[in-house]
Amino acid sequence: MEFERNILCIGAGYVGGPTMAVIALKCPEYRIEVVDINEERIQQWNSDNIPIYEPGLDEIVKQVRNKNLFFSTDIQKGIKKADIIFVSVNTPTKTFGEGAGMASDLQHWEKTAHTIIEYANSDKIIVEKSTLPVRTAEAMERILKASNKGIKFEVVSNPEFLAEGSAVRDLLEPDRVLIGAHQTPEGRKAEKELADIYAHWIPRGKIIITNLWSSELSKLVANAFLAQRISSINAVSALCEKTDADISEIAYAVGSDSRIGPKFLNASIGFGGSCFKKDILNLVYITKSYGLNEAAEYWEMVVKMNEHQKQRFVQRIVKEMFNTVADKKIALFGFAFKANTGDTRESAAIFITKQLLEERAVVAITDPKALDNARMDLKGIDRNVIYEPDPYKAAEGAYAVALVTEWEEFKTLDYERIYKSMKKPAFVFDGRNILDHKKLYEIGFNVYPIGKTQLTHFE
Ligand code: NAD
Ligand code: UGA
Repeated sequence: MEFERNILCIGAGYVGGPTMAVIALKCPEYRIEVVDINEERIQQWNSDNIPIYEPGLDEIVKQVRNKNLFFSTDIQKGIKKADIIFVSVNTPTKTFGEGAGMASDLQHWEKTAHTIIEYANSDKIIVEKSTLPVRTAEAMERILKASNKGIKFEVVSNPEFLAEGSAVRDLLEPDRVLIGAHQTPEGRKAEKELADIYAHWIPRGKIIITNLWSSELSKLVANAFLAQRISSINAVSALCEKTDADISEIAYAVGSDSRIGPKFLNASIGFGGSCFKKDILNLVYITKSYGLNEAAEYWEMVVKMNEHQKQRFVQRIVKEMFNTVADKKIALFGFAFKANTGDTRESAAIFITKQLLEERAVVAITDPKALDNARMDLKGIDRNVIYEPDPYKAAEGAYAVALVTEWEEFKTLDYERIYKSMKKPAFVFDGRNILDHKKLYEIGFNVYPIGKTQLTHFE
């Protein structure tokens, strides 16, 4: 079959894979190829066991794979064929040199630019899908223009706002699609081509067009705002625990103001995930690099507050369990950074487990999707870790259950059965406030929610 356009996506990760699967589904007249240097990942995308768990994704991939969606490691061929190249490689926090621990590590991004000029033999639109520091497109253009092949490259920014666990829904029904392009005839043309792809299923009114730099920066700012809400509610949760105010009631009362809104006000053990921390630190770094120190410090507090919240959770476990957890089994309910994903990148569970191991506890981890990743995260330090798919077994003989991921299945467990199998006094630390605390208390547990009055049987 002849396809109208050839689209290439470099990077077959949490963004590249789902995004291209949805574009393939909605644009059958386009041929879409997703390439990656990671052979194993590509093999998985081509198998019945796709490399990431996202509700609904498996079905879409099965529908379009090898029809108009292809996964391959042949980057060279992919570049030659493509009219439009999305780049969705990883942009983690730099771990070395200037800006280590703060700035974005753009090495994968830059390598991609060099690969593109090496193999391109016709004009291309380059789409920044990865999250990047503001003005990255300028660097990309400099690299691409250094080629003397007479090929034109137009760089546009099109950041991705999907959240893991709801990626398919977010891609099918996004709040908005953002496209940033140079306000030149060539820039406008590229912007229109990209908008036309999304217009296959997204109302034009939801496609926002900005200049390139606003688009790049909006992505960092959107993540900073979202994370800031979590740090704000978490900061208040600590105060609630001291005053018998209830964080859920406060979130409801405050979020009912239409100017504030109800979403992203769930107090927790702290946000995790591959992006919030890295994107805020990157924003802090960029802001500082322009000498805007107060603004930088403002955003940095969002991350500091988050680190504090994770620490606070562990400190509370140790303190309430009579200041020692040494040799005590603690069942960790959940390891993923949020529900409906197997992803554990920057999951608060990693920090919590490490701290509990430092305190010489035995940690029994149970999670419906993230046990393989947990094993990798704790490799070399997991002598006192038990990986247990069955939550009932994880809790057997434990002194405490610490719930860290808000999986639905944890809500419906038989907690009477769990209580009976545990050591007494039995503790529940609900790091997500998803359990029925009163019921747990009535069963006999000592219950410690986040930002709510604790329910204990102690005098
Ligand atoms: P990821 O690590 O899952 O995937 C990136 C992929 O790029 C990897 O498979 C890696 O092998 C590949 N890659 C790296 N260098 C390459 C090269 N030179 N050639 C070919 N492939 C190469 O990362 P991700 O979670 O998909 O994130 C990608 C970008 O999207 C990041 O900038 C991230 O900030 C942003 N983002 C992520 C999410 C999310 O939910 N994960 C959401 C929005 C935006
Ligand atoms: C986040 C953003 O929501 C996406 O819009 C963005 O595209 C993405 O980052 C990215 O750039 O990578 P994600 O990290 O996948 O998505 O998941 P979120 O739903 O935002 O959750 C992040 C963390 O915050 C999780 O650990 C979650 O449990 C926590 N959280 C979320 C809370 O503690 N409280 C809340 O009220 C909401």
